[in-house]
Amino acid sequence: MPARRLDGTAWAERLRHKLEPRVAAVRRHAGRPPGLAVVLAGTHPPSEIYVRNKIATATAHGCHAVLHRLPETASVDEALVLVRQLNADDTIDGILVQSPLPAGMGTDAESRVFDAVDPSKDIDGFHPVNVGRLVQKRQALVACTPLGCATLLDREEIPLRGRHAVVIGRSDIVGKPMAMLLLHRNATVTICHSRTVDLPAICRTADVLVAAIGRPGFVTPDFVKPGATVIDVGINRVETPEAAGALFAPNTPKRTQFEAKGHVLVGDVHPDVADVAGALTPVPGGVGPLTIAMVLANTVTAAEWRLGLHL
Ligand code: GUN
Repeated sequence: MPARRLDGTAWAERLRHKLEPRVAAVRRHAGRPPGLAVVLAGTHPPSEIYVRNKIATATAHGCHAVLHRLPETASVDEALVLVRQLNADDTIDGILVQSPLPAGMGTDAESRVFDAVDPSKDIDGFHPVNVGRLVQKRQALVACTPLGCATLLDREEIPLRGRHAVVIGRSDIVGKPMAMLLLHRNATVTICHSRTVDLPAICRTADVLVAAIGRPGFVTPDFVKPGATVIDVGINRVETPEAAGALFAPNTPKRTQFEAKGHVLVGDVHPDVADVAGALTPVPGGVGPLTIAMVLANTVTAAEWRLGLHL
């Protein structure tokens, strides 16, 4: 039997809808809507799409959302000046600096810029204060993608207590906070990465497997215990016939999509995993819409906390 499809689009819609009264309460108490500022430096095509979706979703749900663009050639100092202005702007509750920053800003640019965001406005949950608070299971703003995955697992009532959860990927944006959220739900958590020995064997012991590697179709059926829940965080654009041919057999849906359009979106999980897993998030339509919904949720949460509204 094919895996149950965990429909991120439908959950995201429900979650956004549930935020509407909270947006209205912020408006009532503050006399203004929750405010989101997104900083986009340079021209990274996937970031353009993500940022457009974040702004459009926040606006559609009654928030004040503004995009601040910096040129590809901007310096870290220019980014820091902008972040400090946004920190001081009382109409802004949430600040999101889209990653990756341009390579020209230097290797330590992201940590310097993320560290400059006021922790109370850090809706990405990247600031060390929020990371530390998450680790200690205190009230914190939590990174949107792992928060979306954990919310999906909660809403779908996937059992986690005492279960083995394996996270592939150790990034600050996804892997590490994901592991914490699973740990706080009483899962036994293993974090795997590029140096892990015999990755498929470890993954095969997972009741819940989260793939956040950034490599199309990397998780094949031999990684998956029959019946396991698989969360696919990857969104990879496959653009060459060689890559499409290596991943997908002729007449399979992804191969057919590639042949029709010349490109196809593929997660980190191979579509054949649907024959083994018990439940699986699709790409697109799985984790992606939940991440966007969590940007909205965290903006509203940040506004409430800043206003002293405790819900
Ligand atoms: N780039 C990819 N994912 C994210 C995210 O969740 N937040 C930010 N700021 N940048 C990203």
